[in-house]
Amino acid sequence: MAEKQTYPVPADFVRNAHIDRATYQAMYRRSLENPEDFWAEQADRFLDWRRRWDRVMDWDFNEPRIRWFEGGELNVSENCIDRHLTQRGDKTAILWEGDDPAESRRLSYRELHEAVCRLANGLRQRGVRRGDRVCIYMPMVPEAAVAMLACTRIGAIHSVVFGGFSPHALRDRILDADCKLVITADEGIRGGKTVPLKANTDKALRECPGVETVVVYQRTGADIHWENDRDVRYADLIADTDRECEPEAMGAEDPLFILYTSGSTGKPKGVLHTTGGYLLHAAMTHHYVFDYHEDDIYWCTADVGWVTGHSYIVYGPLANGATTLMFEGVPNYPDASRHWQIVDRHRVTIYYTAPTAIRALMRAGDDPVRQCSRSSLRLLGTVGEPINPEAWSWYHRVVGDGRCPVVDTWWQTETGGIMIAPLPGATDLKPGSATLPFFGVQPALMDADGRELEGEASGNLVIKSSWPGQMRTVYGDHQRFAETYFSAYKGCYFSGDGARRDADGYYWITGRVDDVLNISGHRLGTAEIESALVLHPDVAEAAVVGFPHDMKGQGIYAYVTLMAGRETSESLKEALIQLVREEISPIASPDVIQWAPGLPKTRSGKIMRRILRKIAADELDSLGDTSTLADPSVVDDLIENRIRPE
Ligand code: WT7
Repeated sequence: MAEKQTYPVPADFVRNAHIDRATYQAMYRRSLENPEDFWAEQADRFLDWRRRWDRVMDWDFNEPRIRWFEGGELNVSENCIDRHLTQRGDKTAILWEGDDPAESRRLSYRELHEAVCRLANGLRQRGVRRGDRVCIYMPMVPEAAVAMLACTRIGAIHSVVFGGFSPHALRDRILDADCKLVITADEGIRGGKTVPLKANTDKALRECPGVETVVVYQRTGADIHWENDRDVRYADLIADTDRECEPEAMGAEDPLFILYTSGSTGKPKGVLHTTGGYLLHAAMTHHYVFDYHEDDIYWCTADVGWVTGHSYIVYGPLANGATTLMFEGVPNYPDASRHWQIVDRHRVTIYYTAPTAIRALMRAGDDPVRQCSRSSLRLLGTVGEPINPEAWSWYHRVVGDGRCPVVDTWWQTETGGIMIAPLPGATDLKPGSATLPFFGVQPALMDADGRELEGEASGNLVIKSSWPGQMRTVYGDHQRFAETYFSAYKGCYFSGDGARRDADGYYWITGRVDDVLNISGHRLGTAEIESALVLHPDVAEAAVVGFPHDMKGQGIYAYVTLMAGRETSESLKEALIQLVREEISPIASPDVIQWAPGLPKTRSGKIMRRILRKIAADELDSLGDTSTLADPSVVDDLIENRIRPE
């Protein structure tokens, strides 16, 4: 069985690796026993500081209060660009591959420096100051990274919104963070199709009076609506600006960015990351987990709209002076070989992607992979959801020709960077396991009564002590931060995931234990989808659950109760799907809508989702006790009319 198999560290990998097994064990022990010294050394090694910190760490999960390197000063763009200029001025910082295989660009560190300085000056001209919020709603072009870095240069806080989100979702995020400026593009291009980013922005801004300026990068040259006193072309904004821009000296605990992510209740929350600790965690994990070396060509296939793009396309790699590949397109355009063609064309050595992409590529068969040599690859990574052992083994055997270690990296938007993952020169691999904790990370498993489980066990995954990349608060709602992450298990950060620990101490993440869905590695809250569905005048109530889906990991199953007297119809289903797309994004579209005359509720009115999940998964023999329901008969109707997703 694949799951039982262990893949030892290849001997030739160990020889050049930064960390071997003994070093990992020694460093890990020290990171827990003597965290102050450990982190001070790492902060000195990985980052350049304008002013040294007064105190390495100061945290208390009961409050919660989390501070790292207080008193220290640094600038993120200076760490990601300026300090590399003497040694690596002509080295490619961003290697861009367009959606169209004929399009490619390279930005050297020197060119990146000029681009970032010019835009930073342009933003200042438009009145952006330290601490102001800037929304970035961009396609995957180098200017998206330039925009992020330009914000950090002047101490503005960026909030990147994934280009796949709808105008309503964009509006909500702009309002919540009170952004005064938006950076977008006329259109994006993915898989040969255009995405109307400027038109979406125009719609969103009808309800965002605080936005004074919209900077529009020209990607396709499409005809777009223009507001003279609000909109400015990216090229015009930077045309007459200075090529130098003095970086702001930021406090280590000054906010760096906000990134919205879905929770089990309510609207998405603004995860706030700060400057020093976040950058250290991103840089350090990029170095150790990917065993990064100076001449690597490193490619993370994520979008900058997600945290993976923040930490492992932009901040981690650039802090380390790497060449980071940025791809505008999708894996199957023009054909299923695209990723491997890119690997060969640019001699990619490290490739980091999501299990959902691996499963999709696996379904296209081995031929599209074998058509390309992939001889440059030396390390593979995955992130975003549990990877099934079959997909892991295919990835290892076919994509990596059995030669490349696979690092399965568990982390979250909230954690800022990788938390549990193998170090490729130190850790034997087991397909489907994220293996062992990174330096300074103290995972534990809890039972339902809040007791810590020892040894081999399954339970809820918590982290017992702070780490530098940890989120500091929910933007504008510290109470929600406290309740969401620190109230379930006293003195611990609760991840929302379940996990198993095996006899070797390896962690196997089993997935969310709360009402958060993971659809193709995209995180969505059931509550947000329900809120969108009930906006329809015909809908009285909706309950959304996930169900196992071969390709997407999870699919979306919606139970919908109509208002009395309303008729069910296919066109109403279509209208509901359209509503969700408009309110959130096409990625949130329900795969299945079942009409539910009633929902299973307890006598106090709480929907029993456990039952709905079982029906959606067609696991009828394990429905559990339904006798405590207010009306047990609703279950029979739901079972009878359940829909088997194809
Ligand atoms: C959730 C976080 C981390 C960046 C991308 C997702 C799931 C993430 C793994 C993994 C099993 C994983 C968890 C987690 N997840 N990585 N290697 N194995 N599950 O970030 O959108 O904040 O989602 O993704 O359920 O809680 P995110």
